[in-house]
Amino acid sequence: MNTRSAAGIECVRNYHQRTKHHLDRYADGPGFLDWDQQPDPFRRFEGSPLYPLPLTIDQLPDPALGELERQPPYKLLHSWGLTEISSLLRHNLGLSAWKVYGPDRWALRCNPSSGNLHPTEGYLIVRGLPMLKSGVYHYAPHEHALELRAAFKTDSESLNTATAEILLGLSSIPWREAWKYGERALRYVHLDLGHAIGASDYAAATLGFRFEPLETNSKMLATLMGLDRDQDFIHAESERPDLLLRLTSDNTADSPTPLTGWLAQAEGADWYGQANRLSQHPRHQWPIIDEVCDAIARNEGEPEKGHGDDDFPPMTTTADTSARQLILKRRSAQAFYDNRSLPKQDFVHLLDSLLPRQDDVPWRAWPYRAQIHLVLFVHHVDEITSGLYLLLRRSDVLEPLKREMNKSFSFEKPEGIPQHLSLYRLITADSQQAARVISCHQDIAADSFFSLGMLAAFDHTLETQGAIGYPRLYWEAGLIGQALYIHAESLGVRGTGIGCFFDDLVHELLGLSTTRFQSLYHFTVGEPKDDTRLQTLPPYSHLSRS
Ligand SMILES: Cc1cc2nc3c(=O)[nH]c(=O)nc-3n(C[C@H](O)[C@H](O)[C@H](O)COP(=O)(O)O)c2cc1C
Repeated sequence: MNTRSAAGIECVRNYHQRTKHHLDRYADGPGFLDWDQQPDPFRRFEGSPLYPLPLTIDQLPDPALGELERQPPYKLLHSWGLTEISSLLRHNLGLSAWKVYGPDRWALRCNPSSGNLHPTEGYLIVRGLPMLKSGVYHYAPHEHALELRAAFKTDSESLNTATAEILLGLSSIPWREAWKYGERALRYVHLDLGHAIGASDYAAATLGFRFEPLETNSKMLATLMGLDRDQDFIHAESERPDLLLRLTSDNTADSPTPLTGWLAQAEGADWYGQANRLSQHPRHQWPIIDEVCDAIARNEGEPEKGHGDDDFPPMTTTADTSARQLILKRRSAQAFYDNRSLPKQDFVHLLDSLLPRQDDVPWRAWPYRAQIHLVLFVHHVDEITSGLYLLLRRSDVLEPLKREMNKSFSFEKPEGIPQHLSLYRLITADSQQAARVISCHQDIAADSFFSLGMLAAFDHTLETQGAIGYPRLYWEAGLIGQALYIHAESLGVRGTGIGCFFDDLVHELLGLSTTRFQSLYHFTVGEPKDDTRLQTLPPYSHLSRS
């Protein structure tokens, strides 16, 4: 390991340690909400030409969630126009509803975000589309429109749609989260990014396509998304490039443009627009967030390819509800009915949907060795004794985890669970109180069917990938969260991501005394209680176009 890598790893380790919440002390944050500084949830580029996307997409295929896996039997798209682009972005980063409470009104989106603060931005990089000039576009969710950031000069555009190519760049504005959450915010930024990767693949799947990540580095990403153009961000808060995804399908025949080709286009392009300022005179800057972002940007080790050696049988999903409808109605529950129970088969389905099958949505968008496993607090599931359970997403980590965990854990396989699910009961107990306390005393972790913590192979990932391994673990956790949200919705129940938890209390409970495994994200699933005080409005009623 070189000195630069070692320094980067040290930086993220230090960040992780100091942003842990403890029972008697929360990570450093503003301590109050400075409403005058509340960031604008919508980034815009003033001066960029705006291309509104159509809102009517009824003519597109509308597969059920259960149809999305593997070889979709529904009609595949063979050409891309504005309607297809519209559907892709709308079901990924687009608005899903407005909520109204008294004088307050806020937008929800298809991709969830901690505190609904939405640090994730999306850039479409296209060539060869019949109705869109080749170039780089920023997606503006409020307008459901594309803002032209860069027009490629040597536009080899042809009307031959078979040569169309679409990349999606994802970036983050950490200040949006830091405004509310202070130093811990960067963890949430990357969990949100993971959710956005998942949301992207679900949206692509409804069109018969999939997303795959491209091997890049932060310099290339910044060039392609125009985030290295300081002159366009003079008044704006820092925006960091994260990841580039390529839209592809099993039927994609042409050899794709190499990254060097895209970079040459971006470097020679005409660029437009000035990024808007989100907050006036932000008071807290949280310099550690910039330090960690810089360390991550300097470390570029690739993750290990392939999810693992398990050979899972195909997922037996029968969900016949339209995937697009499920995407649009996905919400976080605010509260659950206590004492309602989940049928065992639904529990099994939810766990099964989280196994990293290489061809399934959304795992194909993250085709790397699975590093995250689940610790479940099972409260109310039919035929499953309440207690603490472990679900391995790669069966070969059983022994390493056993060595690390509390020696009194029983590691029993519960009866009547499909053989391929590596599910183990650790202790039989009423786990509601423990789940509530661990999750910053939030009732949603206790009143649910079950809640869970996502245990990551922390040391190993940092040692093999460098500092960049840190956000990647959060991305994988966010993907798991997104799959849980969507599959819970398909069963008529609901999930909620939990970013607030007492880190080392979880580790103590599990007997983990090193950082080999660390819990990075929690989640809960139950029967939601609706808040009848809130009014819901359609997502694009504020736009007067079809
Ligand atoms: C990374 C992450 C962490 C979250 N943490 C919490 C939490 O600790 N408690 C909570 O009640 N909701 C939590 N949420 C739910 C968000 O508040 C919710 O996603 C957001 O308000 C947007 O609402 P929606 O999911 O219905 O679109 C979290 C969501 C995400 C994505």
